[in-house]
Amino acid sequence: SQPNTIERLRRKKAKQEKFVVITAYDASMARICEAAGVDMILVGDSLGQAVQGHETTVPVTVDDIIYHAKAVTRGSQSVLKMLDMPFMSFYSVSQALANATRLMQAGFAEIVKVEAGAYQVDIIRALSDNGIPVCAHLGLTPQTVHKLGAYRTVGNRTDEAKRLLSEAAALTEAGADLLLLECVPAALAKQITDNSPVPVIGIGAGVDVDGQVLVINDVIGVSAHVPRFAKNFMPEAGSIIGAITAYVDAVKSGQFPEKDT
Ligand code: KIV
Ligand code: NA
Repeated sequence: SQPNTIERLRRKKAKQEKFVVITAYDASMARICEAAGVDMILVGDSLGQAVQGHETTVPVTVDDIIYHAKAVTRGSQSVLKMLDMPFMSFYSVSQALANATRLMQAGFAEIVKVEAGAYQVDIIRALSDNGIPVCAHLGLTPQTVHKLGAYRTVGNRTDEAKRLLSEAAALTEAGADLLLLECVPAALAKQITDNSPVPVIGIGAGVDVDGQVLVINDVIGVSAHVPRFAKNFMPEAGSIIGAITAYVDAVKSGQFPEKDT
């Protein structure tokens, strides 16, 4: 069959149809997410907290992502897959290319994701020029939490908002195929999305982005700590497949996230 590519997400952006992303880290959950109709699975380095029990994503390695990506690949058929490039796996162009190659080959993924800013423009360009689709993750970038000082909204201050707008433009210009905005004020996320030539995924970034992503553990109510912007769909749904389907339906119908979150 035809490879499933991010062209599907571009078409959804063009038609103003919301798309749905969720993390998964194993074959069982990948199978259920695919059955629930998600558009893409993210093998996120949030597995550091969700699976490994760490406080942050900093300890997660390329080998960890590969292990989970293989499991997710075995559990799913045709759903799009995005793999996180973990902490310090992309500090130079050559190292980013080598690690992205390992991830793409190990996990049969369609796209890698990099926590990126102005400093990563050359890395995004190198990945893109070599035919590796890449998502640039902006705003709250959890790998840099120790530098950022806290898990907090990024973009409320005028200087931060200006920087995010210019970085989003620079990174798409360099070849980023997707943007992901985490904990960005909704009005700013809307402005970035309206200006973006590529689909924009949001988490804690309001409803006016092209797609949403959540961590599966939050959706099914098994997280130790649920962020303010996430939602546990389990109480209303009663089953794992029900909760993930409710999340998919709520994003597609524009009911999640709610306006003021
Ligand atoms: O690792 C992850 O789950 C992520 C999402 C929160 C966007 O990067
Ligand atoms: Na991540």
